[in-house]
Amino acid sequence: MIAPMEHAGTTTRILAIESSCDETAAAVVEGNGTGSATARSNVIASQAALHARFGGVYPDLAAQEHTINIIPVIALALHEAGLLDSPEANGQAVRDALDHVDALAVTVGPGLIGSLLVGTTAAAQLALLAGKPILPMNHWEGHLYSAFLGTEPPAFPILFLTVSGGHTSLILMRDHFQYELLGSTVDDAAGEAFDKCARILGLGYPGGPAISAAANDARAAGTQLKRKLPRPMLGSGTLDMSFSGLKTAVLYAVERGDIRLPGDQAAAARETEDAIVDTLAGKLMDAAAQYQPASLALVGGVAANARLRDELATRAAAAGLPLHVAPMPFTTDNAAMIGAAAVFRYALDQHFAVPPLTIEANASLRL
Ligand code: KG4
Ligand code: ZN
Repeated sequence: MIAPMEHAGTTTRILAIESSCDETAAAVVEGNGTGSATARSNVIASQAALHARFGGVYPDLAAQEHTINIIPVIALALHEAGLLDSPEANGQAVRDALDHVDALAVTVGPGLIGSLLVGTTAAAQLALLAGKPILPMNHWEGHLYSAFLGTEPPAFPILFLTVSGGHTSLILMRDHFQYELLGSTVDDAAGEAFDKCARILGLGYPGGPAISAAANDARAAGTQLKRKLPRPMLGSGTLDMSFSGLKTAVLYAVERGDIRLPGDQAAAARETEDAIVDTLAGKLMDAAAQYQPASLALVGGVAANARLRDELATRAAAAGLPLHVAPMPFTTDNAAMIGAAAVFRYALDQHFAVPPLTIEANASLRL
């Protein structure tokens, strides 16, 4: 059983930093360990356009870009939160602004090691100068806590569908920081399926938004594929999922001529999106029937998908369950979600914040 929040009731203000993949992000977040957390600022410098020509994230380039962006992004986050007069300020002014935060928080993993090191090093140096402790945060926990950045916090037990480029799982949270993994993908993540299918169909990177836009064109035009794509493991009786078969099915359909490119591009994108959404929604509702949560939450980069949001909203309403979807700027990688997890951690146990020089990046950190 989890102890009552040690510091619940006292508002904590945290500067959070996230650089685990290809977004350099910083945010100022406040919270007291009850209800929701509030983002006072949320700055994201996305490198997506830079990596697009490689068809995926190119690790060395990501680290280099983080190095260039990290300090300006942190200064802008402090400025937008009203803690720094000018976003161009550096040195002493940035250090002085940190007098107004209780602690820093930084993503220590999982992620690309070169990317993580830029964020952890910047956080450690700033915290050392300002004499503040740092909360070492898990990127995944951040995605889960993005659900606590809305106006209404989700009620426990919360059934999470977490969907991103690296993860797809169903997690039951009975209380803060108590996680039960109910099921997950046995191969590719849902975001990865979007990205890989988009590549086969000649759509850009990142694949999720590209598929979504093309799928909407097909819906508007009323076009669809003659032959449906599979919904793997739907009705398998387990809460595990599989998405690698979908990519193979799209590839074979192209090779067989069932999908003719570029003419069938939009129709194929529509069917791909429907197949992924049907599978995710089916598994979430199977888990809800089995575990009887008080609320549902959708988090992670793929939560930006409008078709998925709509489908889950319909099914949750039919089941009489409130659905919490991370507010839009907090779905794909951002620092506000890291700050949200951090304010709840700090409220529960101030010793979760450690001296700056003990912070270490861990590329394969687990939840
Ligand atoms: O959470 P995230 O930003 O990074 C990871 O931690 O992986 O998720 C990135 C993933 C990518 O696979 C991207 O294609 C997907 O989220 N994504 C979307 C949409 N926006 C981003 N997938 C479907 N529809 C979208 N609108
Ligand atoms: Zn992420």
